[in-house]
Amino acid sequence: MKGIHFQYSTYANQSELNAEDAALLAKARQATKDAYAPYSQFNVAAVALLNDGSIITGTNQENASYPIGICAERVLLSAVSSVHGLMPIKTIAISYHNRLGQSTKPISPCGICRQSLLEHTLRQGQPIRLVLSGLEGEVFIINNAADLLPLSFTADDMQ
Ligand code: THU
Repeated sequence: MKGIHFQYSTYANQSELNAEDAALLAKARQATKDAYAPYSQFNVAAVALLNDGSIITGTNQENASYPIGICAERVLLSAVSSVHGLMPIKTIAISYHNRLGQSTKPISPCGICRQSLLEHTLRQGQPIRLVLSGLEGEVFIINNAADLLPLSFTADDMQ
């Protein structure tokens, strides 16, 4: 039998984070107001800190044709690639505002976004850290977003 072990860190709230992570999370919480989520009422924001110090924001963008909607994480990755080329992403903070309920537990990226994060990680050749939290409360830190997708399918599989 083989196994894959996954580890992440948890913190009671943002006051336990280092200054850089706390500032990025504050930006993500603030950016949830820029989501366009009239259908789900679930605003998500993903904010990236790049190696050169740049900060880029993505928010979920929905559509009356529901499947067209794009998650905050993929809006962010497209923006980073388009505007900053391959300047590596160091950390992404992800927050959300559930306008119909609570926003107090961390959420982690959906399956499609995990695949996109993996591809971006391989392209940039540097792990992407994730800082996950709602508008308040517990924070999860994952040191390598690629860990969220074990046994993944990548370009190597098509050699
Ligand atoms: N959503 C994200 O933007 N990121 C996630 O990690 C989970 C879900 C969006 C998609 C949709 O607009 C809304 O949240 C509800 O699923």
